[in-house]
Amino acid sequence: MNKKILITGGAGFIGSHVVRRFVNNYPSYHIYNLDSLTYAGNLANLRDIENASNYTFIKGDITDSDLVQSLFTEHNFDGVIHLAAESHVDRSIANPMSFVTTNIIGTVVLLNAAKATWNGDFDNKLFYHISTDEVYGSLGEEGFFTEETKYDPHSPYSASKASSDHLVRAYHDTYQLPIVISNCSNNYGSFQFPEKLIPLAINNIINNKPIPVYGKGDNIRDWLFVEDHASAIDAIYHNGLLGSTYNIGGHNEWKNIDLIHLLCRIMDKKLGKEAGTTSKLITFVKDRAGHDLRYAIDATKLKNELGWMPSLQFEEGLEKTVDWYLANEEWIGQVTSGEYQNFYEKQYHQR
Ligand code: NAD
Ligand code: TYD
Repeated sequence: MNKKILITGGAGFIGSHVVRRFVNNYPSYHIYNLDSLTYAGNLANLRDIENASNYTFIKGDITDSDLVQSLFTEHNFDGVIHLAAESHVDRSIANPMSFVTTNIIGTVVLLNAAKATWNGDFDNKLFYHISTDEVYGSLGEEGFFTEETKYDPHSPYSASKASSDHLVRAYHDTYQLPIVISNCSNNYGSFQFPEKLIPLAINNIINNKPIPVYGKGDNIRDWLFVEDHASAIDAIYHNGLLGSTYNIGGHNEWKNIDLIHLLCRIMDKKLGKEAGTTSKLITFVKDRAGHDLRYAIDATKLKNELGWMPSLQFEEGLEKTVDWYLANEEWIGQVTSGEYQNFYEKQYHQR
């Protein structure tokens, strides 16, 4: 079936994997990628598909309601997959306002345009909002986040995502807008901006710089390979139940310090260094304010309803990721020039 799909934030880390998957796997769809190209957006993430006949890039801001409405009026999209967001917790602590503007107001601008354009004719229409497990807050040593877990966000980032999730649900409950939401755990893989733990550590190791571990490194995250997130999004877009929420996760919990030790072992091997060399770069630094202790997803609903399972073991995925960063030093060089140096200085100098 022919479909016109608007993907927002398609030049970012996860968005670029979703755009690539949809452009390649669904030649009868036309994919429109709306992205304002913030520091986190990069058209180099999409070089391999940029000339595909079923792909169009539009540089623009999701908070620009005139632009967003004119795109809906021109194309009457069948679906929206909304990923555009400010996404880094540390930046949200330093500057919450851009998170409120993009993550909350930007989402409402998109919802309004979908509502006005579809105007009650919701046959085969879908507004799919991509969210995070961080909206559920922090777990203790035991238990998992399910789709019924109460929202309890702690950082400005997770609070802004929680707010956008509530607004998406409100448009369903109030106006019957056909929506679906997924809340995913921490992603890793190629094209991730080196402000997040794994690519930041890989980049620092390549440059023989300290690996900053917050607090004692005891915090736990549930890691999912980004291409598995894209496959879950595909499954949910096509077969998810309207109005519902799906949790996505890898059943793959790692204490930060254990993850970093595993990464150091892989890097020793890949860089031909003596075992134990890279771990000498580990440096414990001041903890993040309001640092959530543990995230862990129960993805049973997604498995039972849609048959989705992660495809990779973590060690294999992490090795693939390291190989990608080692083979793409030009990409790292490009994204870490200029503004990145200021961010790094401010973020890590004081710690
Ligand atoms: P990212 O920061 O790598 O990419 C965000 C993209 O959105 C960039 O291309 C950026 O240019 C674009 N963007 C930002 N503000 C915009 C605006 N106002 N208008 C248009 N485009 C704008 O983020 P990511 O890690 O790829 O995350 C994508 C989505 O997935 C986010 O909604 C995030 O909350 C969610 N998510 C991320 C993770 C993770 O581990 N990274 C986990 C779960 C959910
Ligand atoms: P991050 O990649 O920022 O993702 P999130 O905060 O969304 O989970 O951080 C992952 C974990 O790693 C988190 O517990 C914070 C920690 N961390 C460090 O220890 N050092 C770092 O330099 C960064 C960026 C994160």
